[in-house]
Amino acid sequence: TAALAAMHRREPPASLEALNRAIAAYVPPVAFAPRAVLGEGPVGAGIAFVGEQPGDQEEIQGRPFVGPAGQLLMRALNEAGIVREEAYLTNAVKHFKFEARGKRRIHVTPSAGEVRHYRWWLMDELDLVAPRLVVALGATAALALTGRPVAITRSRGPLMLDRGPGFVTVHPSYLLRLPDEAARERAYAAFVGDLKAAQALAA
Ligand code: URA
Repeated sequence: TAALAAMHRREPPASLEALNRAIAAYVPPVAFAPRAVLGEGPVGAGIAFVGEQPGDQEEIQGRPFVGPAGQLLMRALNEAGIVREEAYLTNAVKHFKFEARGKRRIHVTPSAGEVRHYRWWLMDELDLVAPRLVVALGATAALALTGRPVAITRSRGPLMLDRGPGFVTVHPSYLLRLPDEAARERAYAAFVGDLKAAQALAA
């Protein structure tokens, strides 16, 4: 990990394609699915969204934010007037960490060390995409983007990140986990409000 990090600092990738080739060629530890799910969207996008890691569906389809949490994010982006194809979407960790339970693959949160391991790639990636604003979706993304633990409830809103202006909000899977319908609707409305505020900052 240290050697990999040192290598990255000496030689930033020449292009997003070169970076993505390096990520795709990397073989993750056994707790992770071997297929990398790369970032998606145009270089020069005004706004970038960083999630935690691909989920089961993302790993199967090879695209970020296509499973249940991703679909909820797409609905919220749409309501906030953000076009998916114009935004850059990626994850702090590029592989799906899971535990097998029968035929199901259950999401496992990546450790702080694992987030740190992937963080050099994320920084290179954002340097190449160069968005005006980076939105951290949840605690793992915020950790990756600041290098320190971030309490989402306290830091929600605009936040200076390592590589420039950012915005911290909840992860869409948090909304899916809320047991109470009314609470879920309130939280969803607040999430859409955050996306609108972020979009205004990125404009
Ligand atoms: N959750 C994430 O954090 N990222 C994805 O790509 C999908 C779900």
